[in-house]
Amino acid sequence: MRRRYFCPVCRVEVTPQTIKTYAFDGSVIEGVYCPVCGSILEARRKVVDEPFRDYRVEKGLYVAFEGIDGSGKTTQVEKLVERLEAMNVDVVSVREPWLDASKEILYNYRIDPDAEVYIFAADRIILQREIVLPALRGDKVVVSDRSFYASLAYQSSLGASQEFIWAANRWIKLPDIVFLLDLPVEKALERIKGREALTKYERIEFLEHVRRKFLKIASEVNESRFIVIDATRDIEKIAEEVFNHVIKEIEARGIKRR
Ligand code: TMP
Repeated sequence: MRRRYFCPVCRVEVTPQTIKTYAFDGSVIEGVYCPVCGSILEARRKVVDEPFRDYRVEKGLYVAFEGIDGSGKTTQVEKLVERLEAMNVDVVSVREPWLDASKEILYNYRIDPDAEVYIFAADRIILQREIVLPALRGDKVVVSDRSFYASLAYQSSLGASQEFIWAANRWIKLPDIVFLLDLPVEKALERIKGREALTKYERIEFLEHVRRKFLKIASEVNESRFIVIDATRDIEKIAEEVFNHVIKEIEARGIKRR
């Protein structure tokens, strides 16, 4: 017989409805609901092997770069990819947001922060499904310019709640290593002054807020995942430090070279 639950809203015992949601990482989220008023009575997450095992990827290495605009991420992504390729490592390089359609909306329209969260999350799901997860399954190294943590820092600075950002991204695979390139906002803005058009995110007070958020996230997240780098330092020295870290991880994981 199915277990009965007490519904605190209807104040009676009910035989609940269970709704299963299959998550991207291979787990199943079981929501237990009151059939009368729809209140959630319990939610549990279970790891299952079949038939969604394919979504849980433990292979390869997923490296991401974060930092405020103008922190030098893109240069470091290029340098890391170049060095890894020279060592015959199979590398796939990506950047978020991924789709032109997402960029068109995000950069040209003033939209609600929650809507932004959804668009970045949708863009990320497509990118992970099509490029990132297949590459990791093939035991490759994925180097990404930005990741989930950009949503956590930027969209929460725009007013979206952290819980909501986590929820919208619950199926996302998180990077194994995040290099956070940290530098004062004035320095970052100096660097991007020369660029043709600044996006709506490139304002000083806003970026100060984002910088603080990133540092807070880094201090809260498992240290071996987040590496904070002083981005005012020499570009080549940073590239060397990043490369040494990544190659050590590649060896520790036994990722084969070509
Ligand atoms: P950039 O990586 O070339 O600096 O441009 C991406 C912009 O989009 C940057 O201003 C940060 C912003 N962004 C978010 O606000 N949330 C996100 O989840 C991502 C991936 C980027």
